[in-house]
Amino acid sequence: MEFFIDTASITDIKKYKALGLVDGVTTNPALLAKEGKSPIEQISEITALVDGPVSVEVTYTEPDKMVAQAKKLCKLADNIVIKVPCSFAGLDTAIRLKAEGIKMNATLVFHPSQAVPFIKLGVEYASLFIGRVEDFGLSNVEAIYAMSASIEEMGSPTKLLSASIRNPDYLMEAIEGGSDAITVPPVCWEKVYSNPLFALGEKEFLDSWRGLDESMRVEYESID
Ligand code: G3P
Repeated sequence: MEFFIDTASITDIKKYKALGLVDGVTTNPALLAKEGKSPIEQISEITALVDGPVSVEVTYTEPDKMVAQAKKLCKLADNIVIKVPCSFAGLDTAIRLKAEGIKMNATLVFHPSQAVPFIKLGVEYASLFIGRVEDFGLSNVEAIYAMSASIEEMGSPTKLLSASIRNPDYLMEAIEGGSDAITVPPVCWEKVYSNPLFALGEKEFLDSWRGLDESMRVEYESID
């Protein structure tokens, strides 16, 4: 299972890469805009920093423009994967980009049916959004299982990429549901390691430890 980081921040990419959590990177126009720098320079820096796939999204909605932009964007680096919207226009675009051998990530999938033609086409990734559905009090967990089963049933090379992972529960659901890849934003990893029960447990162990005679603690802590 691949773990991508969902960010365009160089600082975050470096931090999570060192922690073994960057098999690739996913960006979107909003994440690039948040950095406030030249997106082209930002993308070039990201692609140089990671060996794995870096998803970069088109910013048009018309197929001719998406195709032209995608062809130029993928020249920036060999590990670029073009994010195309999971729409009729995106499908038209994807068919044309596939013919050019361009790698793609079909994005903004909210229902597995949206991804079916892209899975049939054999795009590299299809991004199922979890958090953006659950923001409205609905669950998209079943969709993970359904999409995973569809890909297998259709005998497609497309990888199910679970995206829009907002918290530790979504992360676990994405793993259990059979995702091939999960893109996790830094804020989710921060939540994973902000568990108050962990902090309490760690504090209790160390408080009790300090009750032991100092010479015995020193012996243990300076063992060689
Ligand atoms: O890859 C998906 C991601 O870029 C969007 O996630 O958190 O804005 O719903 P989010």
